[in-house]
Amino acid sequence: MRLDIGVIKGDGIGPEIVTEAMKVLDKVGEIYQHELSYSQLLLGGASIDAHGIPLTDETVAEAKKCQAVLMGSIGGDAKVSPWYQLEPSKRPEAGLLKIRKELNLFANLRPAILYEELKGACPLKEEITEGGFDMMIMRELTGGLYFGERKTVEEDGVVTAYDSLTYNENEIRRIAKRGFDIAMKRHKKVTSVDKANVLDSSRLWRKTVEEVGADYPEVTLEHMLVDNCAMQLVKDPKQFDVILTENMFGDILSDEASMVTGSIGMLASASLNETKFGLYEPSGGSAPDIAGKGIANPIATILSAAMMLRFSLDLDKEADAIEQAVAQVLKDGYRTGDIMSDGKTLVGTAQMGDLICNRIKR
Ligand code: IPM
Ligand code: MG
Repeated sequence: MRLDIGVIKGDGIGPEIVTEAMKVLDKVGEIYQHELSYSQLLLGGASIDAHGIPLTDETVAEAKKCQAVLMGSIGGDAKVSPWYQLEPSKRPEAGLLKIRKELNLFANLRPAILYEELKGACPLKEEITEGGFDMMIMRELTGGLYFGERKTVEEDGVVTAYDSLTYNENEIRRIAKRGFDIAMKRHKKVTSVDKANVLDSSRLWRKTVEEVGADYPEVTLEHMLVDNCAMQLVKDPKQFDVILTENMFGDILSDEASMVTGSIGMLASASLNETKFGLYEPSGGSAPDIAGKGIANPIATILSAAMMLRFSLDLDKEADAIEQAVAQVLKDGYRTGDIMSDGKTLVGTAQMGDLICNRIKR
């Protein structure tokens, strides 16, 4: 099969981690006989450097021609990077938000799994993590606070900034359906997270999720306030199966969930629209402090490539092969710095990629 994949290496550690994921994909292609064709696309700081803006119409058009897009990370250190001298709408992050919107990638899946082998990297007590946990965060990605109207004005000599959190019921319904669909394939439990004790948008969220939930009698639905959820994630992460939530809450909770799995360097993500198309990226940032040093953890990106094979290309066996190779490499004791613990073998980015490639089997 021919696979047309768009590749956004991006900024910071992006090029390093994507290179390893491509290596792994090439290995899968070789073993399972697929012809991979990559189109390199620019986004974020790399696009600003080349074109003066973080996302061009050409990049959007090119991305649409691909079956899926694999991405590294975008952005730099706001204290030193010239990208942050630009107005906010021209900075790297604006490009990421725009491509999500342009491609209508409203459903962001972020699986947080505690690997048995990484228990040592988990900051929680052993009695809490006993038996591991495996949750899927379903984050709404093209609405809410990150896309609402915003402005900064001066009124009577006082500067005031506004951001608006808006959701309509259709936006809530479509993400809720995705959440319930995925729960049906898992442990049939949805925890919908909102702030319905304060926000109107959350009250609509809760009502709409209830309505959608009525079509899924097999799925247990519970509602949780976001502040309580933040606490429950460290108190009892095992209780969660699918966490369904709006954009900003999902942004925050998914970083928290990643840390309880040991490292954000392990957390993959898929951003999907109504079709098979998706953009796949590690949930972590561009980590400019370690960029170019060859020490970043490429596993989240490699697992994102596995999600791409599964969700956009229907290549389940190939995705399994990658996931098993990752689990095996951890079992064999190899670790990048972020997940390192006593008695394990410390490896760099490229070596980790090679070790995973060597474990890809048919
Ligand atoms: C993420 C990131 C982005 C987001 C930023 C870079 C705009 O934090 O993917 O979680 O908030 O969505
Ligand atoms: Mg984030």
